[in-house]
Amino acid sequence: MPVTIVLGSQWGDEGKGKVVDALAEGADYVVRYQGGANAGHTIRLPDERQYVLHLIPSGIFHSNCICVIGNGVVIDPVALRTEIQMVEEAGFTVKGRLFISHNAHLIMPYHRQLDKASEARLASGTNGQSVGTTGRGIGPAYEDKFSRKGIRIVDLLDRASLREKLRHNVAEKNELLKKFYASDELCDVDQIIRDYEVFDEEMDPYITDTALMLCKAVGEGKNILLEGAQAALLDIDFGTYPFVTSSNPTAGGACTGSGIPPTAITDVVAVVKAYATRVGNGPFPTELLDETGERLRARGREYGATTGRPRRCGWLDAVAVRYTSMINGVRSIALTKLDVLSGESEIKLCTKYERTSDGKILDHFTTDLRALAGIRPIYESYEGWSADALDGISRRADLPPVVERYLSAIEKEVGAPLGLISLGAGRNESIVEEDFLAARSLA
Ligand code: GDP
Ligand code: IMO
Ligand code: MG
Repeated sequence: MPVTIVLGSQWGDEGKGKVVDALAEGADYVVRYQGGANAGHTIRLPDERQYVLHLIPSGIFHSNCICVIGNGVVIDPVALRTEIQMVEEAGFTVKGRLFISHNAHLIMPYHRQLDKASEARLASGTNGQSVGTTGRGIGPAYEDKFSRKGIRIVDLLDRASLREKLRHNVAEKNELLKKFYASDELCDVDQIIRDYEVFDEEMDPYITDTALMLCKAVGEGKNILLEGAQAALLDIDFGTYPFVTSSNPTAGGACTGSGIPPTAITDVVAVVKAYATRVGNGPFPTELLDETGERLRARGREYGATTGRPRRCGWLDAVAVRYTSMINGVRSIALTKLDVLSGESEIKLCTKYERTSDGKILDHFTTDLRALAGIRPIYESYEGWSADALDGISRRADLPPVVERYLSAIEKEVGAPLGLISLGAGRNESIVEEDFLAARSLA
C-alpha cells in the first residue's frame, strides 16, 4: 500500500499544505517528519475557511486521517497548544487523532532567544548577512539534539532528571546569552520547569511511540503520507548552506524523522511552484528584482505564512528542481500556483546556467555558493496565456496549447511527470491525473 513522501522541491512555500490536504482524502495517516513551527502550511477548506498549520500535519481537516508528529520534529509546546485550539475551534477533533513521538525534541525559550541573538549578531557583522531564520528556535534546538543535550518529550516524565538537565542547559545558555551575545534577557529555570510541567499534562494524551505505531500501520498496508516541511534547497546537507534550515527536509529525512524504513516508501512527490520564491537570505539565481517579480508577489500573495515577510520571487529554475528531484528520487510532480502566471505575456523557464567567467554552459546545480554567485541563468521563453485561460478547466487535455507547452517543458527539464496541477488555493482546485490518484489508491 502507498507510503508517499510529499516534499518541497525549491525553497519552501510551494503549497505542500494544499497538496497534502488534497491527497489526505484517501490517506489513513499523515506524518510530519522534520522541522518545527518554522513551517507554515496553508489550507483552504471547501467552505473557503483558511488555516495555517505549523506543527500539526495537513491531514487534520479530514476525519479519516490519523496525524502524527514524528521524532524528527522539534516541538514548541506554545505553538502546539495554540494550533490544537485553532483546529478544535474550527470544529475538528484532535484528541484520538493526533499522536506525537515521545522521542521528539522540545523547543525551549532559550532556543528562541539564541536564534534571535545569533541572527542579530550575524546581521551586524562584517558582511551584514544573517540567515534570515524564522526566529522559532529551530537551529539552536537541533544543535542541542545533535550535541546530545536536548530535552525530549519523554524527559518530561522524569521530573528529577528533567530539572537536572534544565539546570545544566539554562546555566550554559545564560552564560552564552550574557557573555557572547551581551543580552540581559536571561532564562529562569524554575519558570521553565513550571511552564513545561503544564505542557506535559496538556500533551500527555497525544504522546506515544509513533515509530512503532507507523511501522504497524505499514505492516497493515495503510495509506500513509509523509509531509515534508521546508524544502530540498533548504536542506542542511543538500541545500544552499549556510542559508538553510537545520534539518533534512529531503526524502531521507522522512525515514529518520518518522521511523518508517526506506524499503516501505513507495513514492516520492515533489511539490513545485510554477515560478520560484524564497524567504530569508541566500542565493536565488532566477530572482526577479523588477516589476515582473513584484507582479508575481502581488498576484501570488507571496508573503510568509509564518512570519509575514515578503517572499523574493523569480522564474522557475529547472536546473535547481532537476537537482532536487535527483536527490529525492522524485517520481511525480505536484505543480502549484499555475494560475498565478495567467496574464503574463511571456513566461521564462531556466533550463541551464552559464558560468560568467568563461561562458561554460552548466546543466547541474551546485551548492557551492561561490560558484552559484558566478553563474547566470539561461532561459527558454514561453508565450503566456490570458488571465481567464485556466478558468473552469478540470482536465489537462482541455488546457490551451500555450499552457501545455510550458507544462511539457517542465516535465522534460525536470524529468518527471506532472501528477497534479494546482490552479487555486482550494482543496478541489486541481487537475489530478488518474494514474497519480491510482498510485495513492484514491481512484
Ligand atoms: P507550504 O508551506 O508549502 O504549505 O506553502 P504556504 O502555505 O506557505 O504557501 C503557499 C500559498 O499559496 C498559500 O497561501 C496557499 O493557500 C496558496 N496556494 C497553494 N496552491 C495554490 C494554487 O495553486 N494557486 C494559488 N493561487 N494559490 C495557491
Ligand atoms: P514551509 O514548510 C520557507 C527558511 C527561513 C530561513 C531558513 C532558516 O512553510 O515551506 P529556520 O527558522 O528554519 O532556521 O530558517 O529557512 N525557512 C522557510 N522558508 N518556508 C518554510 O517552511 C521555511 N522554514 C524555514 O526563511 O531562510
Ligand atoms: Mg509555508
